[in-house]
Amino acid sequence: MHLRALVVESERVGSTTLLTLSVELSDPEPGQFVMLWVPGVGEIPLSVADYSDGNLLLAVTRKGRVTSYIYNEVRKGGKLYVRGPYGRPFTRPPPGSRALLVGGGSGVAPLNFLARKIREAGASCTAVLGYRTAEEVFLAGSFSRNCHTIVSTDDGSLGVRGLATDVASQLLSSNVFERIYACGPEPLIEKMLFLSTEKGLYFEASMERYMRCAVGVCGSCVLEPVGLRVCRDGPVFSGEVLKKVFHR
Ligand SMILES: Cc1cc2nc3c(=O)[nH]c(=O)nc-3n(C[C@H](O)[C@H](O)[C@H](O)COP(=O)(O)OP(=O)(O)OC[C@H]3O[C@@H](n4cnc5c(N)ncnc54)[C@H](O)[C@@H]3O)c2cc1C
Ligand code: FES
Repeated sequence: MHLRALVVESERVGSTTLLTLSVELSDPEPGQFVMLWVPGVGEIPLSVADYSDGNLLLAVTRKGRVTSYIYNEVRKGGKLYVRGPYGRPFTRPPPGSRALLVGGGSGVAPLNFLARKIREAGASCTAVLGYRTAEEVFLAGSFSRNCHTIVSTDDGSLGVRGLATDVASQLLSSNVFERIYACGPEPLIEKMLFLSTEKGLYFEASMERYMRCAVGVCGSCVLEPVGLRVCRDGPVFSGEVLKKVFHR
């Protein structure tokens, strides 16, 4: 069932639209996603980037039909429709432990919610956030309220020049972490899986596949070769499952 969601804020940062929607969801957890329906345009899965007091934050990066419509047309006061939350969330690190969060592009969205929950649970985190350029940097200020935050850009226009995975690799060589969480392009997830295996650290990542029903029925989101459905069995998967996906 779709819930009506009022657009409280719509802010464009580079090619991303930060949408704050007023909608009552039943306790979403970091790593879960919602299906956002734009009538007459389409419905897409989006990670919960934050949720509190009936305000849902989504970070929507422009790609194709629906995300471009949101970027160009959706403004404060507009009405959208949401169903969810769906999917398996990230497991939380124990209090007192240290987690490394590594996100790239729109993949930073679910990690933003996770960073806040980690701090509130009495654990700590370092976030490495990778973007193409300075203009594309979003949510970095929000991350820095909850954890030590390092921004990297491909062209060096803000923060460290280069890939988030290279920054993460350096951090891992001189710091102690108990867990690694990742979300972003698959090469980023695969590299962080490799590094976590090398260090013997617990690993989780959020995966993307094309989705339709979002409730485990249509089979359009199956993760091969493991045969798991990203919408029901994920989108968050452990390193053990991901080793089979990436043949490691
Ligand atoms: C669990 C989950 C969480 C997500 N969270 C976010 C988020 O927080 N922020 C965000 O910006 N994006 C997120 N995405 C990706 C987002 O759903 C797609 O970018 C969106 O569906 C594209 O829709 P479109 O109509 O704009 O593009 P389309 O016109 O449908 O396609 C444009 C391009 O994107 C590809 N594409 C379409 N859907 C997906 C998909 N689900 N996964 C990967 N590629 C796709 C198409 O193959 C095509 O190449 C998430 C996806 C999943 C599965
Ligand atoms: S989207 Fe239909 S089974 Fe996952």
